[in-house]
Amino acid sequence: MSRILVIGAAGQIGTELIEQLSIQYGKDRIVGADLNPPDALPDIRDYVKLDVLDKEALAQLVDQHEIKIIYNLAAVLSATAERIPEKAWNINMGGLFNVLELAREKELERIFWPSSIAVFGNSTPKADTPQQTITEPSTVYGISKLAGERWCEYYHEKYGVDVRSIRYPGLISYKALPGGGTTDYAVEIYYKALEEKPFQCFLNPDTRLPMMFMPDAVRATIELMQAPPENIKVRSSYNLAAFSISPADAAESIRKHLPDFEITYEPDYREQIAGTWPHSIDDSKAREDWNWQHEYDVDSMTEVMLRELSGTRVNSNQSD
Ligand SMILES: NC(=O)c1ccc[n+]([C@@H]2O[C@H](COP(=O)([O-])OP(=O)(O)OC[C@H]3O[C@@H](n4cnc5c(N)ncnc54)[C@H](O)[C@@H]3O)[C@@H](O)[C@H]2O)c1
Repeated sequence: MSRILVIGAAGQIGTELIEQLSIQYGKDRIVGADLNPPDALPDIRDYVKLDVLDKEALAQLVDQHEIKIIYNLAAVLSATAERIPEKAWNINMGGLFNVLELAREKELERIFWPSSIAVFGNSTPKADTPQQTITEPSTVYGISKLAGERWCEYYHEKYGVDVRSIRYPGLISYKALPGGGTTDYAVEIYYKALEEKPFQCFLNPDTRLPMMFMPDAVRATIELMQAPPENIKVRSSYNLAAFSISPADAAESIRKHLPDFEITYEPDYREQIAGTWPHSIDDSKAREDWNWQHEYDVDSMTEVMLRELSGTRVNSNQSD
């Protein structure tokens, strides 16, 4: 029985991806791996401690568990990477390289590796940013994602590795906390709203960024990986979009349920990072090639976020 390995499984995306993969393929087929596995392990057969930079350990794991498909989510995210540039570059690039090399050597069936809207920079058109456009990122994270995209396309062209990728927008979720990105405010804001405390935002009120609710992102990832190879026309990374919001928009959406919610603004270095990213994304290639369709907009997401984070305290009727 061939199995699926998720590296970086304890992170914001990995936690939910593992859950969905085990529903679709069965918990025996999923292997989770992370440098720091969580205390409460998910209900899958194998969860191992692994450094993605240890190629030998990774190769052994692939052989031992008959791994054919790898999702490599291990990375240092945008805000953290600015503080530890060299380490971030090593993990983001070294991990991808190890996985691509193993895919080539062991003729693995399929690889997923996420890119980000951070590949775009100040010189990129900011509205409806096209699939192919100027990519001059000014952050360590963006540079590593752009280089990664080029390597993915190279391994596909040169060695026939079936590697697939998405440029995720900022992701919002309630099951695991985000890991040091520029869009983390859009998760923290819901926690503060439910604590009935004012939220101090590290971006400006009108800094509008592309965002997506995690269930859509996980579904997109699995749908991309299940699409027939001939449908996958982009081998660098697909633009993907759902909606775009600013902190003021998020606050307004929350106030439809919690009218007394207060937000203040104290922009820091993350505002500079966000200022180089697109306001909105043209994802028509993903929609054409593998039928991508998002389900959640900001208000339907807010309803679920508040409900799930509060148990029964908030429901949709409270907005009336
Ligand atoms: N969350 C977002 O908004 C977002 C947006 C765009 C792209 N992405 C990309 O998606 C991927 C996953 O993001 P996330 O939000 O789940 O990140 P996260 O920080 O929540 O999780 C990353 C996981 O990788 C693990 N990890 C770090 N170094 C490792 C190593 N050397 N070996 C093994 N595991 C290691 C960490 O312990 C962590 O559990 C990353 O590549 C990220 O760049 C995320």
